[in-house]
Amino acid sequence: MSRTPWFLRFLSPKKRKQSISSSTTTSASDQQRSSSTSLPYGTPPSSNYVIMDGGRRYNNRDDIPALFPEDDEENDRRHRQHWTLKLAFEGNFDAPVEEALVEGIKVLDCACGPASWTMEMAKDYPRSEFEGLDVTTSFPNAIKPENCHFTVHNMIDPFPFPANHFEYIHQRLLVLGLLASEWDSFIQRLVIILKPGGWIESTEVAFGELENAGPMGEVVNEAANALTSSRGLNVDIAKELGDRFEKAGLVNIKTRAIPVPVNQGDKLGQLAWENFRDIFLALKPFVRQTHPQLDEEFLAAFGEECKVYNTKTIWYRTYAQKPKAE
Ligand SMILES: C[S@@+](CC[C@H](N)C(=O)[O-])C[C@H]1O[C@@H](n2cnc3c(N)ncnc32)[C@H](O)[C@@H]1O
Repeated sequence: MSRTPWFLRFLSPKKRKQSISSSTTTSASDQQRSSSTSLPYGTPPSSNYVIMDGGRRYNNRDDIPALFPEDDEENDRRHRQHWTLKLAFEGNFDAPVEEALVEGIKVLDCACGPASWTMEMAKDYPRSEFEGLDVTTSFPNAIKPENCHFTVHNMIDPFPFPANHFEYIHQRLLVLGLLASEWDSFIQRLVIILKPGGWIESTEVAFGELENAGPMGEVVNEAANALTSSRGLNVDIAKELGDRFEKAGLVNIKTRAIPVPVNQGDKLGQLAWENFRDIFLALKPFVRQTHPQLDEEFLAAFGEECKVYNTKTIWYRTYAQKPKAE
């Protein structure tokens, strides 16, 4: 199969191929079995990876934007990011689902990554059943709570679940994973598998929109916007989710925006800074195509600038309800 080299693919927005891991013909339970007994369904062959930037491993697939490395270092960053977000929002969710989770419901975590949220929630709510989906296989295969199941699945494909299946759907940080043109149909397909009266919740970051940015912060904002627009991503999705949920027929919509100080104040500011820096280091091969000045030295100086300008990054969490059946 001919494959466009990554550096050429970077130059124009992605045109998606059908997913490598199309799971439309396999039932959810079949996939759970396969993911717990052997290599997860759809595990890409090693030729789908390219080693760049001092040994970091990047995905070279045609069916996902694949900007982040897929390696242990990135998984560690995502675990730390989970704790940063939990601290910023003072909890793992805002939707009014606590009581239902205690009693026992079906929960879906979309693009679960290494499954920090899924695993913690499964442990906290042992009567509920958690399904984690991700296009890569960074989720745990064997060591996981019994009420936690994982399947390889690309969010652009139809979901391997029946209509009205989940009471609660969680999705976090797909801003660099879905093309701008894919968000509405993704949300519509989520609404189909959500039970009437069930809740959906999304947490995203306003990537490329630092508040109180100094001169270096403006360069960082520019670089983030250049990256997302060149790849056909939607940098504004964090702020648009409320409207998009409404358009999809959802009700009782609430958004909470949390400005998080970068490299200032207490532990949260420090964690937010380290996460921000590590994101830009992870995206380095792509960011430097347009902004070569964004090296380690620049980032370190930008970290200091944040303290002077009181620079903040803004996280958004939006939840909404599927109308109850008449
Ligand atoms: C920044 S990580 C967030 C992981 C997790 N949601 C969290 O908050 O810790 C983004 C995840 O989205 C996944 N992803 C990106 N595009 C995807 C797609 N089209 N379908 C499924 N997963 C996707 C990536 O593999 C990655 O695990």
